[in-house]
Amino acid sequence: MQNNVLILDFGSQYTQLIARRVRELNIYCEIHPYNKIPEDITQFKAVILSGSPFSVRGESAPHPDLSKIRKKVPLLAVCYGAQYLAHFNGGKVEASEIREYGRANLSVIKAEEALFENIAENSQVWMSHSDTIKELPENGVRLASTSDVLNAAYRIEGEETFAIQFHPEVYHSTDGKQLLENFLVNIAKVEQEWTPEAFVEMTVTDLQNQIGEDKVVLGLSGGVDSTVAAVLLHRAIGKNLYCIFVNNGLLRKDEFESVLDQYKHMGLNVKGVDASARFLEALAGISDPEGKRKAIGKTFIDVFDDEAHRIQDVKYLAQGTIYPDVIESISVNGPSATIKSHHNVGGLPDYMKLKVVEPLRMLFKDEVRRVGAELEIDKELLGRHPFPGPGLAIRILGDITAEKVRVIQEVDAIFINGLREWGLYDKVWQAGAILLPVNSVGVMGDERTYEKVVALRAVESTDGMTADWVNLPYDFLQKTSNTIINRVKGVNRVVYDISSKPPATIEWE
Ligand code: XMP
Repeated sequence: MQNNVLILDFGSQYTQLIARRVRELNIYCEIHPYNKIPEDITQFKAVILSGSPFSVRGESAPHPDLSKIRKKVPLLAVCYGAQYLAHFNGGKVEASEIREYGRANLSVIKAEEALFENIAENSQVWMSHSDTIKELPENGVRLASTSDVLNAAYRIEGEETFAIQFHPEVYHSTDGKQLLENFLVNIAKVEQEWTPEAFVEMTVTDLQNQIGEDKVVLGLSGGVDSTVAAVLLHRAIGKNLYCIFVNNGLLRKDEFESVLDQYKHMGLNVKGVDASARFLEALAGISDPEGKRKAIGKTFIDVFDDEAHRIQDVKYLAQGTIYPDVIESISVNGPSATIKSHHNVGGLPDYMKLKVVEPLRMLFKDEVRRVGAELEIDKELLGRHPFPGPGLAIRILGDITAEKVRVIQEVDAIFINGLREWGLYDKVWQAGAILLPVNSVGVMGDERTYEKVVALRAVESTDGMTADWVNLPYDFLQKTSNTIINRVKGVNRVVYDISSKPPATIEWE
């Protein structure tokens, strides 16, 4: 890939954000762990060193050999990167006497530097470190300070090596994106040609070369990733893409039929398989959340496997894996410990021995949506809230029965349709209804009732890692609650979940 930028990851929580900001500039970049510097560094047009939770003075801190990069490719060192560069090249890094955390304002000393072009004096930047650079490295020239940080930015004379102690990738750094653009476009001369259109063109050609006349099978979920992957593959290999859409009986109300219809309209070669009964049977009597996930995962594999075997001579399995999953599995710290046996409930048994194609493995979620729009996929489908693989099974607390699924489908439909009607759907990142294993007393007419409680949950988030509940209008909640209690038999109480993540999670199980 031409115009490729390397981000060397020292384990900072912000590394992915650097990559996202770079991609927003229509520049392609890849994150590699600090201990795996690619051999041929000149395949990259620029290198960015990330921050890190470590202190450069710590014994187990990352200490890669930067001579493999310096003077060969333009280099921008961020935070830990800046301190690392100073510490091992004649400078001095010490613990700071004051806490350098939060907002600060830059006073640019060398305004004529290309790195600071179009960046206002006093521009707000975000600091997050406990060490500080007391003395610059050999040939270091100070470029900017803040009131608390003398060496907020410097460069090395005689080479295109720059260093900043603040985080340009964080939104609080008001001109951060401009600074990245200055470095990448003006200094490193990287072309801004990574667009959805270019991605589609390149990927379609690559897929054609890779797959040729072979057959590919793909499991559709109704979600954005698998849909975009399918349309991309369909564009590349047409009818040789065989899609399977499984109804596990735990989807939203009428979702199986309507999404299947949409897929057919897109021209996809798709087979809908209604396996609801098989899933319900596998779930019978299971209350434990992990037990439910395992039962669903196993049943999905069995159903998918049966279907895939019906396709003669299939060679490839396509998956909608996206970049955060890829980074996670190769990150500095290795795959992080998962709290739930989460995500991608699918996964196929080894014996199928299919080769895997993952056309979206280099994309962030927002890029997947942009590519989807480029492929003219329906806006409504692209804007759909995330929905967990195990579906309503983890929104019915306790064991699952067909009747409970029906109840929660009705409640969920009233809530979600309401969000759409009130113009709130796109303001919410994810929403759904939860059936609680609790009966409560109520009155309807002159009758005393003893019926189910449902909880409504709506959150805002960017990636699901953290989330906060949404302040939905009281009028909307009032109307929704009334409609649910009047229309859904068996429910006499509605509550709204006002917990943030952490410490709560988005799903209740
Ligand atoms: P939590 O509940 O962990 O959810 O805050 C974060 C995001 O992940 C989704 N989620 C799942 N997705 N299989 C999935 O495919 C699962 O088992 C699963 N559990 C949670 C959840 O809907 C939210 O978007």
